[in-house]
Amino acid sequence: MASLQVSEVPCAFPPFDEDRDGFSPGVFPPGFLWGAASAAFQIEGAYNDEGKGPSILDPWLNYTKAASDGTTAKVTCDSYHRYREDVRILSELGASHYRFSISWPRLFPDGTRDSLNPDGVRYYNSLINELVAHGIVPFVTLYHWDMPLALMEKYRGWLDEALVELFGDYARFCFSEFGDRVKHWATFNEPWSEIAYGSKGILADTVGKEGKRGVYAAARTVLKAHATAWHIYDREFRAKQDGKVGLALGCTWGEPRDPHSADDVAAAERFFDFNVGWFAHPLFVNGDYPDTMKEYVMKRSLADGLTTSDLPEFSAEEKALLKGSADFLGMNYYTARLVSARAEGDAAKPDLLEEDDADVHVEMNPDWPVAGLPFISIVPWALRKALSCVTDRYRVPLIFVTENGLHEQHQGEGQYDMKDTRRSCYHAAHINELRKAILQDGVNVQGYTVWCLMDNFEWNYGHTQKMGLYYVDFTDPERKRVPKESAGFYRDVIKHNGFPD
Ligand code: NOJ
Repeated sequence: MASLQVSEVPCAFPPFDEDRDGFSPGVFPPGFLWGAASAAFQIEGAYNDEGKGPSILDPWLNYTKAASDGTTAKVTCDSYHRYREDVRILSELGASHYRFSISWPRLFPDGTRDSLNPDGVRYYNSLINELVAHGIVPFVTLYHWDMPLALMEKYRGWLDEALVELFGDYARFCFSEFGDRVKHWATFNEPWSEIAYGSKGILADTVGKEGKRGVYAAARTVLKAHATAWHIYDREFRAKQDGKVGLALGCTWGEPRDPHSADDVAAAERFFDFNVGWFAHPLFVNGDYPDTMKEYVMKRSLADGLTTSDLPEFSAEEKALLKGSADFLGMNYYTARLVSARAEGDAAKPDLLEEDDADVHVEMNPDWPVAGLPFISIVPWALRKALSCVTDRYRVPLIFVTENGLHEQHQGEGQYDMKDTRRSCYHAAHINELRKAILQDGVNVQGYTVWCLMDNFEWNYGHTQKMGLYYVDFTDPERKRVPKESAGFYRDVIKHNGFPD
């Protein structure tokens, strides 16, 4: 494996220089977890093999080839057949954990336990056993956007509260079948992305054509489904299994455009409340949405001529269900935005829910470097700020960074430069900020997870984004996993538990 020593990583990657207090070599607390992530739809393939039912992603991406490059996820990394290879490369990295997701329709083809697919159960048992045999901690996401299609057809997805119990049953099954070996559970992955982007056709639709009201209603069902799963674990499994149940949120940091303007600072706080606080505040603080959300959605609903807020309320019983129902927050961190107060008469961009309802102006900073997707600014120091913010504002007691990685535009198979130094720098910069968050700011983060273990299917961008530590050529029938330079770099970080002095 080509290896770039940690000490050789050029620290001149622009965000390093911009950082307030620079690069600080040193190690992480003992026992810190270093891993890599994936998601079922993005790597498994075998989309209709051995009893798997269709998910809402199949009609969208596999049947109609809607991805920008016309490819599908029918085979992608073929991990369903090649999971041993995945575990082998994790082991080569020295990874302490592997975050992967279980496909609900692979276990329950019609979304209910009545349809149980024994081959699906066998597959995940084999994967988990292989990980355990290699000393790698399985970190399982229960839902990474692949809702059984039958549930969408029968219930209109997250718009129907019937899904709270159905998700609870699915979670209970997973806890009981795999929980003897799995101690880290994330119920949901980035619900904001699924719901908000789904409503705009950027991800599969889970909310129909109900506009904002539908978006808020769907998010409410997801929150209740999460909390129900947590309580099931707490009541029925925790004493025996002693694991943790949390969820992974996409955290886009909002930096005030003018840090000396109280209006911009408040706008940036609202922006964060409308993407992270929406889920974190009810679960970690008080069973309810942040006050900013309640106030601003109401204001906007009235301005739209409605008589009630688009944001549905929680009953006292629901608040009790939600409050305290997460053991950790999984932070998926990729990017930041500049946020300012919206000037009078300045219309919100119609595609930005958080801009419109939060009444803020959101923009990119042209000085920040960008990733392969031009709307992703690379801002490592904002990871540190986001970690402190969720700790202080949402009182999150324990965090795992569940995703962090570099999008790179693919130039075509055979063209790829395995010397992906930019990726090593990217991770070095973020890990450096993470270390400062832990050691200087006192934030309780117990693990870091690279997105992603290997190149895979990036939703509506198909195979055009290379994000892996390992390269995969999607024209190679064997889908060989080839280590990039960054794999060697990350292996060194893991070996040293950080950056040696
Ligand atoms: C977040 C999502 O959880 C994951 O599925 C996606 O591939 C990465 N972001 C990269 O865009």
